[in-house]
Amino acid sequence: MKVLFVTSEIAPWVKTGGLGDVAAALPGALVRAGCEVQVLVPCYPALATAFPQRRYMVDVPPLGGLLPEAQISVAQAPDGFELLLLECPVCYERYGNPYLGSDLRDWSDNAVRFGLLSRVAAWLATESAMPRVAPDLLHCHDWQAAMAPAYLRYRPGKRRAASVVTIHNLAFQGLFDPHMVGDIGLPPDAFTFDGVEFHGRLCFLKAGLECAQRITTVSPTYAQEIQDYAYGYGLEGLLRHRAGELSGILNGIDTVQWNPATDKLIAADYGVDSLARKAANKRALQRQLGLAERADAPLLGMVSRMTEQKGCDLVLGEAVPLLEAGAQFAVLGAGERRFAQHWQELARRYPDQCGAAIGYDERLAHQIEAGADIFLMPSRFEPCGLNQMYSLRYGTPPVVRRTGGLADTVVDCTPATLAQGRANGFVFTDASRSSFLHAVERAIAAWRDASTWQHLQRAGMTTDFSWDVPARAYLSVYERARAAL
Ligand code: ADP
Ligand code: GLC
Repeated sequence: MKVLFVTSEIAPWVKTGGLGDVAAALPGALVRAGCEVQVLVPCYPALATAFPQRRYMVDVPPLGGLLPEAQISVAQAPDGFELLLLECPVCYERYGNPYLGSDLRDWSDNAVRFGLLSRVAAWLATESAMPRVAPDLLHCHDWQAAMAPAYLRYRPGKRRAASVVTIHNLAFQGLFDPHMVGDIGLPPDAFTFDGVEFHGRLCFLKAGLECAQRITTVSPTYAQEIQDYAYGYGLEGLLRHRAGELSGILNGIDTVQWNPATDKLIAADYGVDSLARKAANKRALQRQLGLAERADAPLLGMVSRMTEQKGCDLVLGEAVPLLEAGAQFAVLGAGERRFAQHWQELARRYPDQCGAAIGYDERLAHQIEAGADIFLMPSRFEPCGLNQMYSLRYGTPPVVRRTGGLADTVVDCTPATLAQGRANGFVFTDASRSSFLHAVERAIAAWRDASTWQHLQRAGMTTDFSWDVPARAYLSVYERARAAL
């Protein structure tokens, strides 16, 4: 089967979160599972720089509305798949975050920018424009690619192709003014309740959820949660209606990049049989962040977008009592200014105990995973979450809220789960400060008990989080999508 991945991010070049990681790692795993995969992605400056030798392949004509002309060039990704770079300088030659300008507001032409991405994917699938790219199936990621199935429905071509939409985060839906239906080259009759309309607006994600043959999301628990009012952002009814075509497939992680035994970004490598060497990473992290180099202080790590989704307010709300009780923090994140400022203020007040780096820093992310004792991820909702899996692999047991992929990967430490050898972290249920604090206190108490702690570390470090299992699950979803066409 020939699959065209359609994505607005791909690590390490363009990444605002886990979507970039998934788009970089899943295609390689699909190739190993016997699929032919090409990845269509906008040619942002970072990709143009990374692939100076990309080969020009084809001109994309104007495809309707205000969609500009473009070109496609091809480059080889290291992992056995081809990158199709969608070149359109007026849309994509912008530095920094792919969605926001320097004022942190969405680019005003995002409907056209990602309408173009989706439209070109559908064009490649249906028009035999590039004979070597004749996908049987489009795999569209998040709202930025989710209009592609609607183009397949409303602008059919010579060939037929199936489509699968993967929801990485239902909170981002791609909502625009209704007049943009024409701007992105869709006919007016697409703007109906069973088409691209959502509460009077044009909605990219809704369009994909209506028109794709299959829908997936990135964990089994999130697949259930989004059918409920509390997590569905108004799309729960549609998702319930399509429940038979919706599946949750837990993400894998890149086990080469994220391997404490070979990680070049950390101070000392270590594995499940050399856990003592992890201590050198704690010392190095404390030194780097200017914290007191104390082995006896529990070091709590956090790497995250600074948003309410990630429970930043819960952690900040209980940070002072934890600091007063002697804990240390190593925090890395970018996002909402109020959270960043609060962390910086704590770092000034408690310079020996609180280190806060604001920004995006791949190296420090690895160093925190390796150097912290306990990892914090108290998300309000979490479609999958990669960081808790990294922390499990790095022997840094996580404290998480019971939601989405966190619920599917972290097993709460209780006498029973410890005895079964399954406990690997700490789970709480209520999104409240007191429940969070109680879970962290349980984690610190367990950390002080070396034997319990090693059990937790081993359970996490020996779990298989590779992409091979999810890749097989995607193949069977692709087959079902093809059969439904
Ligand atoms: P989400 O995609 O919702 O942000 P995930 O846990 O799936 O959450 O993925 C986050 C990814 O982004 C991880 O690879 C994580 O290491 C990385 N990340 C998040 N914030 C930062 C940061 N400030 N610096 C470096 N890496 C970060
Ligand atoms: C989204 C989600 C995150 C998930 C990632 C990759 O950004 O917020 O939970 O891990 O996508 O699927």
